[in-house]
Amino acid sequence: MKRIFLIGFMGAGKTSVGVCLSKNMGLTFVDLDHYIESRYLKSVQQLFTEKGEAGFREIEQKMLREVATFEDVIISTGGGTPCFFDNMEYMKAHGTTVYLKVSVPELTNRLELCKGTRPLLKDKNKEELMDYIRETLLKRKNNYEQADVVFEAEAMETDTDVLSIANALERILYYGSDRR
Ligand code: S3P
Repeated sequence: MKRIFLIGFMGAGKTSVGVCLSKNMGLTFVDLDHYIESRYLKSVQQLFTEKGEAGFREIEQKMLREVATFEDVIISTGGGTPCFFDNMEYMKAHGTTVYLKVSVPELTNRLELCKGTRPLLKDKNKEELMDYIRETLLKRKNNYEQADVVFEAEAMETDTDVLSIANALERILYYGSDRR
């Protein structure tokens, strides 16, 4: 039985890599934010507005425990998931955790293009965005780096990049290294 948790900052590519990796490995793909939205029939944005971040984190913790019962699955988590409550410890106890590591400038470039759907970013200009990412990543780093696999996912511009990251991760997850 395989259960893989993808973790990392917003914009790290958890969903893109997760979809590709799940196809490669013949596993089911679950995106935790989408799962939350389908269970609560509300967007993450709406949940933040109605319940505040603290309320969202409670829901996220509860839903993480639901998806962590699924088998043969790749679960892409939210950027904050490993950094609240005992979520990181919980994921490590229930599967293999993989951190997609990306630098602050690269995350800023990626998130500048799609910050509108993310409640924590949507009102920030580019400079504020970069400051926020730098500060938040510093706070979250210790949690992320506890992952069983830490993978540099800096180059992810094209579908081919995503595929080669997924291929490399598949080798690591099967053989413990990326040697061909
Ligand atoms: C968050 C990341 C988002 C989502 C929510 C909060 C965070 O998920 O869970 O907006 O705190 O980093 P993605 O990492 O999939 O964007």
